[in-house]
Amino acid sequence: MERISQQTIDEILNAADIVDIVGEYVQLHPAGKNFKGLCPFHNEKTPSFFVSPDKHIFNCFGCGEKGNSLAFLQKYKNMSFTEALKTLADKYHIPLEIEMQKGSDDKTKRLYEITEAALGFYTLSLTNLASGKPALAYLQSRGLDVHTIQYFELGFAPNDFDSLYQTLKPKYQELDLLELGLIKKNTEGSYYDLFRNRIIFPIRNEYGKVVGYSGRIYEEKNDEPKYVNSPFTSIFTKGEILYNLDRAQAAIKAKKRIILYEGFMDVIASVKAGLKEAVASMGTALTIEQARLIKKYSDRVILCYDGDQAGFEAMGKAIPLLEKVGLDVSLLVLPEALDPDEFTKKYSFSQYAAFVEANQIDKYEFRYRYMKKHTDFSKAAEIERFKIAMFTYLLREASGTVTEIYLNHLADDAKVNLETVKNDFTSFQISQSLSKQMADKRVKIANVVMLNKYYKAELILIAYYVHDSKSRQAIINSLSEMFCEDPLNGQIMMCIDELVLSAPEVDIASIVPTKFSDKQDQVRLVLNFKTGDYSDQELNECIDTIKIRNIRNMIRDLKKQQALVNQNIDMPEYLRIQNEIIAQKQKEELINGKSRNHQKID
Ligand code: GTP
Ligand code: MN
Repeated sequence: MERISQQTIDEILNAADIVDIVGEYVQLHPAGKNFKGLCPFHNEKTPSFFVSPDKHIFNCFGCGEKGNSLAFLQKYKNMSFTEALKTLADKYHIPLEIEMQKGSDDKTKRLYEITEAALGFYTLSLTNLASGKPALAYLQSRGLDVHTIQYFELGFAPNDFDSLYQTLKPKYQELDLLELGLIKKNTEGSYYDLFRNRIIFPIRNEYGKVVGYSGRIYEEKNDEPKYVNSPFTSIFTKGEILYNLDRAQAAIKAKKRIILYEGFMDVIASVKAGLKEAVASMGTALTIEQARLIKKYSDRVILCYDGDQAGFEAMGKAIPLLEKVGLDVSLLVLPEALDPDEFTKKYSFSQYAAFVEANQIDKYEFRYRYMKKHTDFSKAAEIERFKIAMFTYLLREASGTVTEIYLNHLADDAKVNLETVKNDFTSFQISQSLSKQMADKRVKIANVVMLNKYYKAELILIAYYVHDSKSRQAIINSLSEMFCEDPLNGQIMMCIDELVLSAPEVDIASIVPTKFSDKQDQVRLVLNFKTGDYSDQELNECIDTIKIRNIRNMIRDLKKQQALVNQNIDMPEYLRIQNEIIAQKQKEELINGKSRNHQKID
């Protein structure tokens, strides 16, 4: 503990955001400069537990518990000072390497000695014991030569009751062996080994310390799990370790990337293929801690889980985690549902290495292929489902350019017109933005259809307004440029107007969004709303639609005015308003009649 300098401790405490740390476990609400919540250290109904982001401390006025981020983790998570320090150092990417390598405290040091000793026992058992022969033969049958077995320090846990225990007993304490999960105590009070009759993969942490093991069966047995891992201990949390990260570091530095696999055998195959920047999450359930660990060593990760359904789904879940910590993510999908190890067997190590270089894809392509794989393009309903799934994804994740690229793919794969797909996408965008507005309770359901029509007309008119000066003039002549009711559309129109006046030569559609700091995407959506050709007929129809909306608004206002006039006292005013209403209704009739004529001509 004393090996960690005060300077490092201070650095960690400074970097630690106490609101973030406490907030993971306690629901906090802002209270002035501070935050408050229910104290996790005593029972209370009204909050007296305060967190001060300025002072980096928590303080409970109810029970008196107080301290900094480290104290919180020690108390709340029952961590030792060193564990708390390591947790924060990891979380805030502050290196603790040198100190941790030296062994942080006496107990940890003792445990590491035992894990090394146990590994020595396992590796010797594989090569020296007669009972290890079948396990060794199994590894060789899977193509692992002596050199590889030695490099990865593979071992064998004999099929005895307690041979590891008997070997370690003279030198080490039972309590430590129990804590490491290497032995267990049965009801008769005898100690027995956890790993029996299994091939042993040692698991080292990023600093090269053996922190646990995974034991694999080597004969087909359906009633036993394929792998058994060390239990959670003070030095081993499976979700916070990446297999082979200690050995991969030089290659990671050189290649500026990490390849993330599911399993031990995949890492071994990758290393044999010359791709040594290989680590494994040990299963498909990647954790945020593992993602942070990757980011600590590299900015770029290639995710390569098995090419089967489970692997696909796990990759889909892993992508946002990896992106969340700021990693640049590529994906590798292996053909024929193979895993990397199987690929190297079916083809070759060099073909595998070549495949990795040539077949990395981005998340959009991954998502598209994944959804396409599940679509039968001979069935319209399946195409529709695929289309909606892809639209939803694009709207959430992709820029306009990326969206356009995949709308093109969609049109090709579904063998339909690109314009049709684009129109569908537009309607989808509108319906999404409407349902979002409804969720915001700004629009009542009864208004949706109406709003759709007028809102859509506004968007199309904005497009015409940007399109050319002839359309612009037509709109101003019939409606004035203030035709938008939607507040954002109104702001966009004001912005366009300014540009038209001050810089008529610029590309309005690309400049306008940059003037909206927080709503750029939405503005871009509005400006790219219209697809298809420009025609006088469409322009006039939209102008009419807005005219009718304006007339209806006017009638509504007139009726309100009329309701305020007392007929008995001011009959002339009442009649004047009445006539005005009639005049407006006639105007509406006229426009409606005209548009009915339009339709007849169509
Ligand atoms: P092989 O099956 O020998 O090729 O090993 P593998 O490492 O490729 O295994 P697989 O692809 O089936 O699983 C990937 C990883 O998930 C393994 O390396 C293990 O870490 C983990 N895993 C697989 N099966 C089990 C299990 O039964 N229990 C536990 N705890 N983990 C498992
Ligand atoms: Mn495998």
